[in-house]
Amino acid sequence: MQKITIAIDGFSSTGKSTVAKQLAKHLEYIYVDSGAMYRAVTYYAMKYGFIDATQFDVVGLVSKLHDIVVYFELNEKTGSADVYLNGENIEIPIRTLEVSNYVSQVAAIPEVRYQLVKQQHKMGSEKGVVMDGRDIGTVVFPDAELKLFMTASAETRATRRYDELTLKGDIVTYNDVLHNIEERDYMDSNREDSPLRKADDAIEIDNSNLSLDEQFQKILKLAEAAIQKN
Ligand code: DC
Repeated sequence: MQKITIAIDGFSSTGKSTVAKQLAKHLEYIYVDSGAMYRAVTYYAMKYGFIDATQFDVVGLVSKLHDIVVYFELNEKTGSADVYLNGENIEIPIRTLEVSNYVSQVAAIPEVRYQLVKQQHKMGSEKGVVMDGRDIGTVVFPDAELKLFMTASAETRATRRYDELTLKGDIVTYNDVLHNIEERDYMDSNREDSPLRKADDAIEIDNSNLSLDEQFQKILKLAEAAIQKN
């Protein structure tokens, strides 16, 4: 059967990665979490002092982009891929609220986007890929055979993200998480380069009132129909 490209975009914490992973596993496709790549560059920028609460050295960070190697490798224990930066497994530290607070600024830098989009094209060049992010259906794979655009209310998303972070032991408040989500929604949708928007041919899925299983079944049907059509 012909393999297709599946692009899943949407706001922060809409459960894109959960359903993308389920779908990739079911279809035996590659899953690529493009947000993790922007988080990896942000982690690098924080680690080497290019960004903190007082400054953001964009020129310095851009001059180091050729040194930043981001890739995914299967974690045998969890069964899903972890993200690596220059040989360091950074799957856990890139998910902190601190990285979330800076990532939209880093993702707005055109040179960062150019570099990461180039890598994303390579990862999806053979099709058989489910990639989630903000610009996958609009910029990275505008010809994807199936495009989904996930939405849910900011409060629903903040509750999910708060539960996720506190379960991992992070000390955060619900209000901080909500604030971060609203701020990222705004920055991701209003940046000049590749802003978050629904592709004209994307199917919108509001999952505020869907269980994980209901959501998966609905999306699997759409994927199977798109595969049939090809
Ligand atoms: O999906 P996520 O929340 O882990 O993504 C982190 C940030 O990266 C998000 O706030 C916007 C940015 N991003 C992007 O600009 N383009 C993508 N394709 C994926 C993520």
